[in-house]
Amino acid sequence: MSENKSKYGNMIDLLQLQKQFILNHLGEGDVAVDFTMGNGHDTEFLSKTVGKNGHVYAFDVQEQALASTAENLERAGCEHNYTLILDSHHHVKKYVEGPIRAGMFNLGYLPGSDKKITTMRETTMPAIEAAVDLLDHGGVLLVAVYPGHAEGDAEGKMVLDYFATLDRHVICCTLIRIVNSPSSPFFIVVEKK
Ligand SMILES: C[S@@+](CC[C@H](N)C(=O)[O-])C[C@H]1O[C@@H](n2cnc3c(N)ncnc32)[C@H](O)[C@@H]1O
Repeated sequence: MSENKSKYGNMIDLLQLQKQFILNHLGEGDVAVDFTMGNGHDTEFLSKTVGKNGHVYAFDVQEQALASTAENLERAGCEHNYTLILDSHHHVKKYVEGPIRAGMFNLGYLPGSDKKITTMRETTMPAIEAAVDLLDHGGVLLVAVYPGHAEGDAEGKMVLDYFATLDRHVICCTLIRIVNSPSSPFFIVVEKK
């Protein structure tokens, strides 16, 4: 099965599709940020895409996420081109000067955790605003939302309202959503001109 095919054959796989948008903008030597490190699958993808001359900054508020990511990145044979940061993503500007070429937000819970810690509107919003600010011309942000629980649903509405206010001559915000499955994850691709 080709890497771009989902378990349902030729049907669209949103996780794979996300990566295509990132690959349109990000390459060897670039700087990227994983705003929600979790188990580090996105960090790994970004690290491999920017290669040994690039750099990836990854944030999470759970020590468990940093430990699991560090182990995954070693196992995957990634270059040591990353900085794993135990802090909330809304403090990104304390660590990253910018501009950044790509940023990924995969909102919600750490997969496999007790679900006590999830991304929250009060920190997600300033983090997204900081990411838009740090984004280079020609760069991309990807924000994946999981509306299947109350905070995720509210977070999704907040994020969509915010992106709808941005000037389309400066930044283009595209929504990718399964229209006949409103509680399924969706994502927004944010491209700065
Ligand atoms: C859906 S998971 C991310 C999955 C991850 N991208 C992966 O590849 O495994 C969301 C993560 O965001 C983290 N998180 C929650 N609040 C955060 C915050 N304020 N700053 C940074 N990370 C946060 C959670 O601890 C959780 O690990």
